[in-house]
Amino acid sequence: MDQHAWTRVVEAATRAPSIHNTQPWSFVADGDRLTVRTDPSRALRTLDPSGRQRVVSCGVAVEFAVVALTAAGSATEVELLPDPADPDLLATVTVTGPWEPDEEDRVLDEAIDARHTERAPFLPQAVPADLVERLQAVAGAFRVWLEPVTTEDEEVATVFLISRAEEIERGEPEYLAELERWMRTDPGAVDGIPVAAVPGEDPATRPSNWLVRDFVVGSRPAGGAPRGPDPDAPPEVERPAVVVMGTDADDRAAWLTAGRALGRVLLEATAAGLAASPLTQALDWPATRSQLRSRLSLIGHPQMLLRLGYPAGDRTPSTNRRPVTEVLTFGRTPSA
Ligand SMILES: Cc1cc2nc3c(=O)[nH]c(=O)nc-3n(C[C@H](O)[C@H](O)[C@H](O)COP(=O)(O)O)c2cc1C
Repeated sequence: MDQHAWTRVVEAATRAPSIHNTQPWSFVADGDRLTVRTDPSRALRTLDPSGRQRVVSCGVAVEFAVVALTAAGSATEVELLPDPADPDLLATVTVTGPWEPDEEDRVLDEAIDARHTERAPFLPQAVPADLVERLQAVAGAFRVWLEPVTTEDEEVATVFLISRAEEIERGEPEYLAELERWMRTDPGAVDGIPVAAVPGEDPATRPSNWLVRDFVVGSRPAGGAPRGPDPDAPPEVERPAVVVMGTDADDRAAWLTAGRALGRVLLEATAAGLAASPLTQALDWPATRSQLRSRLSLIGHPQMLLRLGYPAGDRTPSTNRRPVTEVLTFGRTPSA
């Protein structure tokens, strides 16, 4: 593999979603091998002190690299955490030979650019059960479970824990300061969350049970929601599928694998016309995370809560990424 080919692969990998768009990764391409490291200088020390969501984000990047390589005609082998003495070295992706890409490979690769987090209300159209089952099988191939929140009891418990977590976050100055450090008003910013990508209205005023993370808490004028929905319009209630993804273990290998499965699930969902937004507030805090586990009778550890649905007309703009030259270095890979 030459430098040009690796640059294309890393461009795809870095389209991965990451917590607060921190892009907490770096890559080394050396011959036929891509090494993926996490960059602890981009950690969220208050929201994510264990680094779990950072490692999940990097797991998605690993999977996007695999999908891009497969579509470009390379068979791959992934090794997770190859050096126990170097925990930031998360994975190697090795090209093991040629691969004949099929239509499915190409469709998933195209979904890498099409996917982005959609926080706007979805259409009031239910996600078909067989599609959720397909996503379940996609995650299951990584031994990651994906469980839809279906019964009313489960929904009430999940919604309660999300709003409980939001409440904790609103009262946590360090959380708010960290969030503010990753919000971006400059549309050209190469990382962080652009204000255009998050709802201006208070998410609690939406005709939906599902609270998306409130990114502008603190900067919204008290007592009013000027960019909110028209109060006289009849509420159109979205009908998202909300799924919990999780793993039996809760260590770095499990977080990485959950990220890989999340990457595949998001690409499959995008290819099927769905959009998604993570609702991970309830997983940010050990108390709400373990309550979610017991209230939903989950066996294992929840790693991701995802809201899936059909996007309405006005899509949220894509978020930017740092240039590949900032995150990719080359070993003995030929330059052309
Ligand atoms: C582990 C993880 C947790 C996330 N948690 C949330 C969340 O709670 N709320 C939210 O709106 N977006 C969440 N996101 C989405 C990121 O903010 C988003 O991926 C990032 O801003 C880049 O935008 P994009 O997905 O449109 O490319 C999460 C993403 C990851 C990978």
